[in-house]
Amino acid sequence: MNKASANRLSVACGGLSAYDIVWQRGFGAISDELLKLGFGERKACIVTDSNVAPLHLDSLVQAIRPVFKEVTVYQFPAGEVHKNLDTVRGLYTHLIESSFERKDCLVALGGGVVGDLTGYAAATFLRGIRFIQAPTSLLAMVDSSIGGKTGVDFDRYKNMVGAFYQPSLVYMNLSVLLTLNDREYLSGMGEIIKHGLIRDAEYYHWLSLHRQAILNRDYETLLIMIRESCEIKRSVVERDPKEEGERALLNFGHTLGHAVEKLKFPALLHGECVAIGMAAAAWLSVRKSSLSNEDYEGIIQMLQSFYLPVSVSQISAEAVVETAGHDKKMDAGQWKFILLKQIGCAVIDRTVTKEDAKEAALKILV
Ligand code: GLY
Repeated sequence: MNKASANRLSVACGGLSAYDIVWQRGFGAISDELLKLGFGERKACIVTDSNVAPLHLDSLVQAIRPVFKEVTVYQFPAGEVHKNLDTVRGLYTHLIESSFERKDCLVALGGGVVGDLTGYAAATFLRGIRFIQAPTSLLAMVDSSIGGKTGVDFDRYKNMVGAFYQPSLVYMNLSVLLTLNDREYLSGMGEIIKHGLIRDAEYYHWLSLHRQAILNRDYETLLIMIRESCEIKRSVVERDPKEEGERALLNFGHTLGHAVEKLKFPALLHGECVAIGMAAAAWLSVRKSSLSNEDYEGIIQMLQSFYLPVSVSQISAEAVVETAGHDKKMDAGQWKFILLKQIGCAVIDRTVTKEDAKEAALKILV
């Protein structure tokens, strides 16, 4: 892994577009980035939610006001239940009433819900308006703000309506991580540990060695960690932007994890469900692939050392398997499971049966 602390990474997307991920301690450097992208004298709409606005909206408005001729705000109530087409409709109305044009800009200030919803509105308003990701959760920084997956939930179905649409910039103010509560912060570690497990054993061991500094949210350690996770995500999404192959590896832990998330909603956070799903997928990796039992035990300990859950109560294995069967991660009705051959190496497996999945689900139920 690369331990240099450079604060910029460029993401290319099939030759169509490229954007930078920038890491800073505050919002101070965002105006220069926006000017470089040609946003001077355009309009901006900051999209945010009721949790994030009281904490970070004022400082972002102050930082971007000198660039734009007008800055408006569209705020919606926080929570996954608002990640839907009604909220998008409200945003479209706001943009129409404020006379937004295609060269103007949306700025997503928030976690995954805000980023995904804003990206989807950006992809569809006027057939595509530019947008900036300013993620405020650890999970959004290392996962959802990168790679152009945008969308909203539809009825009971998570991320069922969406588009691949790339931001013009991902600007990460790492100082905002200090305002997250422990549970939200640690939820992001679910995706970060996943990156090590699927791609980089050295990074996985680095995370274990730097556990205390990570728990203390030490700035330099966070910078190295977030950079490394973004680098892993970049390398995957550049090669397979539309999830036609390799990008599915990022779904390690998500097949059963999403089912748990849906069944327990709203009790568990996404990263917590990914941790539970990874515990199940790691167990299946011993059964159906070549992961050693010792590494499986180590993965469970690793997740627990970051205070992530590895089991769940009051749901049935049948319900988990049934719910997972309705997920987008099926392919022609077949399970598309991500398994580990070893730590740092994941593969797509199409041989996992409903019975295998049920046994794995039983392993995570208490
Ligand atoms: N969160 C998984 C992906 O971006 O493909």
